[in-house]
Amino acid sequence: MRCIRRRQYEVACNWKLFIEVFMEWYHLKAVHSNSLDSIKYDHPDPVDKTKGQYVTQFGTHEGTGALLKGHGHTGFPPIATLSGRLLSGTRYALVYPAFVVAASTDSMWYFECYPQGPDRTRYAMSVCFPENTIARPDFQEHVGTYFERFDAGIVEDNAILERQQAGLTSPLARAGRLSPLEPIVGLFAQWILDGVLDDAN
Ligand SMILES: [Fe+2]
Repeated sequence: MRCIRRRQYEVACNWKLFIEVFMEWYHLKAVHSNSLDSIKYDHPDPVDKTKGQYVTQFGTHEGTGALLKGHGHTGFPPIATLSGRLLSGTRYALVYPAFVVAASTDSMWYFECYPQGPDRTRYAMSVCFPENTIARPDFQEHVGTYFERFDAGIVEDNAILERQQAGLTSPLARAGRLSPLEPIVGLFAQWILDGVLDDAN
């Protein structure tokens, strides 16, 4: 696959919030109710069994995860090497500590995350398609509909991340429970704890 667009952003939040929001479906209905929620993710699979410094989870949905529903354009053909269930879902991956990837049916996108301080994060988003998709005569005509989906998601996530950061830094903030709908958020927190606590703790 080849990267066809890479853009950089800055958001006023801790880098871990950014990683968390990428790795769970839980916020779609609330944060992306008018955009990405229309992708209609089913309940995602349990977290994959992985060995090493990464964690992944697959979830099924209709069509591609890279387009807003009702857009009129049904998307490019699926990636040629996919088969079975992989043709109807997206796998999200976190490579610790701060690199996340979404591999969908027709494309993939990834974020490099660069902490700038406790409350500021710079990140870059890259979008990739298979070479044979990029070579299509209608690629330039339709790729913009993919960018619309990504741009909508980024605007909505950045806004909620900055509100979440403000909430967390309030003197009234208290820790909350994790939901079963965000298992990787828990695993990520555990990974951080394993790194910052010594064995005696
Ligand atoms: Fe989001």
